Amino acid sequence: MTEQLEICILAAGIGSRMQSDKPKVLQTLGGRPLLAYLLDVADEMKAAAIHVVIGQGADAVKAAFPHRRDINWVLQAERLGTGHAMQQVASSLADSGRVLVMLGDCPLIRTSTLQSLVAVDADLSVLTVDMSDPFGYGRIVRDGEQVQQIVEERDTDDRQKTIREINTGVMAADIKGIRQWLTLLDNDNAQEEYLLTDIVAHANDAGCGVRAHKAVDAIEVTGINTFTQLAGLERGLQMNIVEELMNNGVQVMDPARLDVRGSIKTGRGVRLDINVILEGDVTLGDNVDIGPNCIIRDSTIGDGTVVRANSIVEEASVSNECIIGPFARLRPGAELADEVHIGNFVEVKKSKIGLRSKANHLAYLGDAIIGQDVNVGAGTITCNYDGAFKHETNIGDGAFIGTNASLVAPVSIGAGSTIGAGSTITKDVDSQVLAVGRSKQVTVKNWQRPIKRN
Ligand code: UD1
Ligand code: CA
Repeated sequence: MTEQLEICILAAGIGSRMQSDKPKVLQTLGGRPLLAYLLDVADEMKAAAIHVVIGQGADAVKAAFPHRRDINWVLQAERLGTGHAMQQVASSLADSGRVLVMLGDCPLIRTSTLQSLVAVDADLSVLTVDMSDPFGYGRIVRDGEQVQQIVEERDTDDRQKTIREINTGVMAADIKGIRQWLTLLDNDNAQEEYLLTDIVAHANDAGCGVRAHKAVDAIEVTGINTFTQLAGLERGLQMNIVEELMNNGVQVMDPARLDVRGSIKTGRGVRLDINVILEGDVTLGDNVDIGPNCIIRDSTIGDGTVVRANSIVEEASVSNECIIGPFARLRPGAELADEVHIGNFVEVKKSKIGLRSKANHLAYLGDAIIGQDVNVGAGTITCNYDGAFKHETNIGDGAFIGTNASLVAPVSIGAGSTIGAGSTITKDVDSQVLAVGRSKQVTVKNWQRPIKRN
């Protein structure tokens, strides 16, 4: 029988090196809080329990994961070091089994690496990595296979400073052992903190086996202390995502100028121009072409649709062969049928737009149901809001809405009808008629313009 595994994530740090009021584990990477990544791998490890130590900003951290009722949130009221954080969890741990400790600021750790670490046959196993520049990290002091000590940067002597093998902060320990070693910690070090890393020396004193498992990929085990490191890791993550997209046949015009903050599904022949941001759940069909500087969030875009430069598409559903933009804005609830054209400075909100209909310039379409083959002229506005309530506009198939029309909702325009330019339409319009709602043009003969006198 394999031993029962519990997981501890130390996340009480305030991120003092970021000088931010936000708890460090809520800083985002690829659009998600750092802690979300650790919870993902914790889930994949199928642990018997997940303990997360939180401190300053504890309520905000818990609030960011409202559905995680399975987590044992442990409060570390005073931030006295990683060893002190772990001491707070000790009483929650089972009597026996193993515990995997992870640091909340090391988000890209992989499940397979954790599995290898947990599989190491030792009382305590430490995940290490060789760094070309080990500055700032705890150094691994070994005697052959046995890890004797971890020395924090500030406590290193000149010889230890040259050690390239560093502590990633991830450890797997026998629960009975760690509970004992934790009682022996003191804060007699340069930081004056209770350092979790000191359990290594105590385990050695107790005659226990301490082994290292070396990770190969430095990005995976990079801890984040500063915004510079966060930005560096963000780039690393983005490069991995872009690489995967390109391997799946997506043409990315510049891998350094695409940001994916969510999950994306792509068909064949997709092209993404520079400075595109894809957020949330995005599905792009075959041959979708996204122009430069577009933001697409939680939307589906159908086959052959072109989104031109500087367009924003949020919570919208766009069918096949549409042309969106440049400078278009599709807001939540925009549902476009096939071959719809939405042009520059057109905003669409909570509206259905039928097959082949067009709004090519300067319009606002909100709470509207628009049929097929409708032409919406430049400057057309659905006046959907009366200051208290939203109302619907219905436009039948084949209608032609002249330039600068104000359609005061609730209102219906019948199929095949024409609205004269500049009309303010407040009453329903039948099918196949012309409706004009504007004052008649008058002509004043011999009209004199005012003349300036000196
Ligand atoms: C830690 C390790 C160091 C390792 C490095 C890898 C210790 C003493 N040092 O240093 O050997 O090379 O990570 O990135 O463990 N935390 C708490 N409560 C506290 C203090 C910290 O929960 O009182 C949490 C923080 O939220 C953070 C994690 O522990 O997520 C690590 O703390 P941090 O201060 O970043 O440790 P490092 O100095 O990076
Ligand atoms: Ca750190």
